[in-house]
Amino acid sequence: MRKNIVAGNWKMNTTVQEGVSLAGEVMAALKSTAHNCDVVICTPFTHLVPVAGVIDQNILGLGAENCADHTSGAYTGEVSAQMVASTGANYVILGHSERRQYYGENNETLKAKTRLALDNNLTPIFCVGEVLEERENGTYNDVVKAQVEALFDLSADDFSKIVIAYEPVWAIGTGKTATADQAQDMHAHIRQVIADKYGKEIAENTSILYGGSCKPGNARELFAKPDVDGGLIGGAALKAADFMGIVEAFN
Ligand code: 13P
Repeated sequence: MRKNIVAGNWKMNTTVQEGVSLAGEVMAALKSTAHNCDVVICTPFTHLVPVAGVIDQNILGLGAENCADHTSGAYTGEVSAQMVASTGANYVILGHSERRQYYGENNETLKAKTRLALDNNLTPIFCVGEVLEERENGTYNDVVKAQVEALFDLSADDFSKIVIAYEPVWAIGTGKTATADQAQDMHAHIRQVIADKYGKEIAENTSILYGGSCKPGNARELFAKPDVDGGLIGGAALKAADFMGIVEAFN
């Protein structure tokens, strides 16, 4: 059976000290509150080692927000998948819309990053999602299908290690969430695209998270949908109480 997962994406927020404190708060809350899903925080690279020192990764998973598309060498400013793994992190967000939009990431770079993440035993949280224009002109199902298909060079065994996050770009940081029905329709579509390539069993076992203005107040309705297996949380992951409110939507 697929896992339910609530993952935080801190983006470019918090100092190391603030991040360690936030991770500690989330960790303490998880220890004292029953929860029915896996919980992960994805932090800036600088935070990974000190945060790993204050959490128990059997209770709270840790990930990076990106990794390089090369193994090692003369790529000034880049951080490799191997380096991420050496911090103790187990996850990496790949293909976030902000990386696609501002840093020119495309299917080719994302294929390379995914390969390197898997080779270093990191679980990719692979983001897909349409922009507003594509939602409005009705091409969103095709756009997202093409983004998922960037992974289809992977063997079935490798694909089964991927977590997908559907994040409609028009819902990210805008306060305008997709309706639960819009999320469900897209998640079912993604699952069908996966089933057509890898078969029903792998599709049924793939966790597909929703991201985009997910908050304690709307998480329960979104997560109640059969194909929504949790959330990738931006703004609301920066306050332990809000993040825990979303985690508790699975209780
Ligand atoms: P918000 O939750 O702030 O809309 O961000 C979503 C997101 O981009 C998570 O990766």
